[in-house]
Amino acid sequence: MLRVKSLSVSYGAVQAIMNVSLHVSHGEFVSLIGSNGAGKTTLLNSIMGIVPPKDGEITFNGDSIASYSVHKSVKEGLALVPEGRRVFPNMTVYENILMGGFTRSSKENEEKAEEIEEMFPVLKERRSQAAGMLSGGEQQMLAIARALMSRPKMLLMDEPSMGLAPLVIKDVYEKLAGLSKSGLTILLVEQNATMALKYADRGYVLENGRIVLQGSSSELLGDNEVKRAYLGKEYKEKWER
Ligand SMILES: Nc1ncnc2c1ncn2[C@@H]1O[C@H](COP(=O)(O)OP(=O)(O)O)[C@@H](O)[C@H]1O
Ligand SMILES: [Mg+2]
Repeated sequence: MLRVKSLSVSYGAVQAIMNVSLHVSHGEFVSLIGSNGAGKTTLLNSIMGIVPPKDGEITFNGDSIASYSVHKSVKEGLALVPEGRRVFPNMTVYENILMGGFTRSSKENEEKAEEIEEMFPVLKERRSQAAGMLSGGEQQMLAIARALMSRPKMLLMDEPSMGLAPLVIKDVYEKLAGLSKSGLTILLVEQNATMALKYADRGYVLENGRIVLQGSSSELLGDNEVKRAYLGKEYKEKWER
């Protein structure tokens, strides 16, 4: 469904993505893990048409989308849930949801919003409140709900667990797992390797803008290098005393 081939992206002299190739098949849930500054957001923004690639190919369902605008990428069936959620704090929850439907008519959007509110009961309950009043977890749900308004075929998720408590992170991942089960294709990027790999079918590891490892989630979770670098303190305490 999505194929990225030999992609390079730079900000002036800073090369953020170097010769990255990856693919996500229809219906797959793929996670890409990497530490802060590895290039995760740049990769998603480049796929989405926010940051232009310097070199390489991006195809979506066979179409070359590397030069597409964000608007065109959304029309094509891609949706991004951005890092830090970026809800509009002074708008209501319901208005935030509607914002995701900018490519369609208002009638289509109202129907879709109703469907989405059924999927996210918390958002329905709080539809008239300012989005800024929601908890971090609820705001993450809202950002996902907003992205679903454009009826995407594929969801790009940027660090859903950022700043959330473990139990709330689990809620968010359970919601993503449900969407995945219902047929949505997902590419997720995270520093939180444990959760990202636990829920994904497959994964990639990005370091300094390059893919250094790939495999099934269980392979990666069992990899010593991944454990050392991404699975945190517990492993270090146990094995590197
Ligand atoms: N707008 C920008 N201008 C210049 N450099 C940037 C910009 N955005 C990101 N970078 C640099 O690109 C690299 C990758 O950043 P980013 O994609 O945000 O990583 P991640 O999402 O994995 O934390 C970093 O070195 C970062 O400093
Ligand atoms: Mg990022």
